[in-house]
Amino acid sequence: MTDSPVKTVIIHGQSHVGSTASIARMLAAKIGGETTEFFLPRDFGHFCAGCTACFVKGADRCPHVTDLTPVTEAIDAADIIILASPVYVFHATGAMKALLDHYGWRWMAHRPDPRMFGKQGVCIATAAGVGVKSTLKDMEHSLFYWGVGRIEKLGMGVAATDWEGVSAKKKAALERKTDAIAARLKFRRGRVTPSFKTKAMFGIMRMAQKNGWNPLDVAYWKDQGWLGKERPWRRSE
Ligand SMILES: Cc1cc2nc3c(=O)[nH]c(=O)nc-3n(C[C@H](O)[C@H](O)[C@H](O)COP(=O)(O)O)c2cc1C
Repeated sequence: MTDSPVKTVIIHGQSHVGSTASIARMLAAKIGGETTEFFLPRDFGHFCAGCTACFVKGADRCPHVTDLTPVTEAIDAADIIILASPVYVFHATGAMKALLDHYGWRWMAHRPDPRMFGKQGVCIATAAGVGVKSTLKDMEHSLFYWGVGRIEKLGMGVAATDWEGVSAKKKAALERKTDAIAARLKFRRGRVTPSFKTKAMFGIMRMAQKNGWNPLDVAYWKDQGWLGKERPWRRSE
């Protein structure tokens, strides 16, 4: 357990404050503590160049590293990472995907940051009608493969194109859902243990690293002690 104020980062998949951002902010207010927000593409608008430098040379070799670093630092400093995107043609926005592409090197198959296993994540999506499930999955994939210990999801077909158009009944349901999620996040804070699924995936990736193809990844896993007895979650347990 920790007494320091909880730190939350919200990464918004759009640059405006509509239904999705309003729900993310509703949740952050209930979590309390300090909140840092990034709106995409306003605060990071690059497409991955596909150079693979992050994978094979190092993350600092990304051509967009200067603009990416504030986002990375906020993610690393946060206890809770909220990824929030409206549904655009059944998926997360292109801006959200473009950011997440920049963290492929952080996936468990490569060089996951050990701090991720002690963090919690939340995926939030709104649609006018349908497409919430696949959109939540788009964002959950990254949180899960980064190693984030516990992941909550909140999706809703809001039957509106802006927050003002969302009915009072739906807003009341969102209040209840965010109450419940905030309570779970606060309860687990400081004692996050990764899910069984996360630990199992880590085990599979560990076996793969034993015959790894990328020297940078293999050296990283060795340095962390993960090819031996060390496990990233033991530091946060
Ligand atoms: C480009 C675009 C694509 C969209 N695609 C879908 C969709 O596939 N399914 C859906 O139900 N709503 C779709 N919508 C509507 C939005 O997902 C919905 O209004 C959402 O709640 C908007 O969130 P916001 O207020 O945070 O912008 C789309 C909207 C835009 C602008």
